[in-house]
Amino acid sequence: MTLAGVDRDVLGVDPSATMLDAARRRPGGGSVSWILGDSRDVPAEPRDLALMTGNVAQHIGDAAWQRTLRDLRSVLVPGGTVAFESRNPAARAWEAWTSDGRSTRVTAAGPLEEWSEATEIAPGVVRLVASNRFVDTDETLAYSEDLRFRGHDELVCDVGAAGFEAVEVFGDWQRGPLREDSPVMVVVASAVGD
Ligand SMILES: C[S@@+](CC[C@H](N)C(=O)[O-])C[C@H]1O[C@@H](n2cnc3c(N)ncnc32)[C@H](O)[C@@H]1O
Repeated sequence: MTLAGVDRDVLGVDPSATMLDAARRRPGGGSVSWILGDSRDVPAEPRDLALMTGNVAQHIGDAAWQRTLRDLRSVLVPGGTVAFESRNPAARAWEAWTSDGRSTRVTAAGPLEEWSEATEIAPGVVRLVASNRFVDTDETLAYSEDLRFRGHDELVCDVGAAGFEAVEVFGDWQRGPLREDSPVMVVVASAVGD
């Protein structure tokens, strides 16, 4: 599904130029205004909906998380909606991210073998090491990132503290119930008026 359309003014934000290039090529990408940056770079024009999809929330560390939610609140009209997904720590998805799960795809630089390894280094903090091996040269590049798996109560508290009300948490984007093993929590809330 795409939100982009002739009757909507849609803005897309990502701090990665590579990801923005990929987003531009998606269906409807040509009718979206793309911004290289984060929530601080969203123009102060009233919006009806702020969405974070594709597991963005796990990449936003604690130092920036509360500010991000407040930034989104500040660009929403009163009663406007914030909706985002966040990985459910109870499902412990990282335990399946091991070097056994290798896959290979064809790239412009030849076949690329990819795998990840992950360790929970503190409650709700998962250190991911993602490795990429160029098969033709046997060169391996790896990067490491700490991902945040915030719990249900923490998310509800954070969203309320950022100026939202009527916070609901679902188990998927179809508003299904949150279960212990739901891979993600989908949080939906309304911006409080000034
Ligand atoms: C798993 S990708 C998902 C990309 C895209 N949202 C999608 O659904 O296909 C996570 C994205 O979050 C982006 N990201 C990381 N920190 C961010 C932030 N503070 N604000 C917005 N996006 C961020 C990354 O650059 C990356 O493109």
